[in-house]
Amino acid sequence: MRPTLTDASDLDSQDPLADFKAHFALPEGVLYLDGNSLGAQPRAARDALDTTRDQWRDALVGGWNQGWFDAPERLGDLLAPLIGAHAGEVLVSDSITLNLYKLLGHITEQQGGVRPVILSEGGNFPADGYIAEGFCHSAGFTHRFLPEGAPLEPHLDDQVAVVVLSQVNYRTGQLRDMAETTHRVHASGAEVIWDLAHSAGALAVDLAGSDVRYAVGCTYKYLNGGPGAPGFLYVRGDCQRAAWQPLSGWHGHAQPFAFETDYAPAAGMTRFRTGTHSALAYAPLEASLRLWQRVDMSALRAKSLALGDLFRACLEDLFAPHGIEDITPPPGQRGSQVGLVQRKHGYAIVQALIARGVIGDYREPGLMRFGFTPLYLSHVDVWHAAEQLREVLESAEYRNPRFQTRTEVT
Ligand SMILES: Cc1ncc(COP(=O)(O)O)c(C=O)c1O
Repeated sequence: MRPTLTDASDLDSQDPLADFKAHFALPEGVLYLDGNSLGAQPRAARDALDTTRDQWRDALVGGWNQGWFDAPERLGDLLAPLIGAHAGEVLVSDSITLNLYKLLGHITEQQGGVRPVILSEGGNFPADGYIAEGFCHSAGFTHRFLPEGAPLEPHLDDQVAVVVLSQVNYRTGQLRDMAETTHRVHASGAEVIWDLAHSAGALAVDLAGSDVRYAVGCTYKYLNGGPGAPGFLYVRGDCQRAAWQPLSGWHGHAQPFAFETDYAPAAGMTRFRTGTHSALAYAPLEASLRLWQRVDMSALRAKSLALGDLFRACLEDLFAPHGIEDITPPPGQRGSQVGLVQRKHGYAIVQALIARGVIGDYREPGLMRFGFTPLYLSHVDVWHAAEQLREVLESAEYRNPRFQTRTEVT
């Protein structure tokens, strides 16, 4: 039976995470189902930015000694428990793109170049494949794609040095079994770098429990760090050897302010720094990560799945009549998103929904993607969002020409 508003409101009354919503500033009248693209603004972000702005005004260059300089390590330690890592194993720095490059160089240098192939997966967010290709191009390695959906084993021969995989696929929301996959890759003699873009803050990631040695991720999606907030990288403690990483920037030097002529990598994760980071970009992320310290990750996971299932249950009678395919994986096998494919009108339907204040996003071909962020979405919000989608479909208002125009960012 189709869930009613009362059903949704009953679920809210039992929600252990309900209080978190008040910590986010969302525009009036907006139902935001795109936190998997850019997370909403924590209310504390504004104060954090103001503080940094005032430090800049009052302390000038002295601000670097007032918490700006050590932010990459400090925020790494705040992030660590959310992904099952220990203090000293995570650095908040640069972007996924750059961090992936750094790790590819770092790992392959330690392997001594005897395995010349980097394997990345087809159907993953293209950034990872592009960087794997670019790294191979400059380092003389060979890049291979694992075809989307193909089993890993036949591709893990003794030539493969590193495999790059996403824990949650950005399009389909498919969740990989991280522990089992890591085990298989290690058994083949290769290393795996996990991309946590769609899992950090979306579910309880267990890096230590899954025997993961290397990972990268971003903080502007589920972790609500703000547009362009820095990414992170993880290297397990026992794998932090004295090897270089290829972007040997001065902030990753053992003594950056000694201004020595020759490069010497710093100890621990600090060697993965590059150059001067944006103190302003770290401020809202720190505010958000402090809020995250109070989140019970198992409650988060339960609510994330419940919200996604509620949305689908409200709409499933419309799927067949409107040519919509629900590609959402079953609960145990997905991240925190629902994917509905309407090949012909998907883009226009999302635009019509946005015009009604329900923000989801669109990915080619035909995919309407809806992210479920338990900290600031209630069951009632999701019920209303589904009602809006119902009206868009039943009224066919998406056929209006104004919803067909493509914007630069979709
Ligand atoms: C799975 C995945 N990997 C990599 C990226 C690229 O990250 P960045 O632009 O922060 O380097 C994204 C961006 O959305 C992503 O979703």
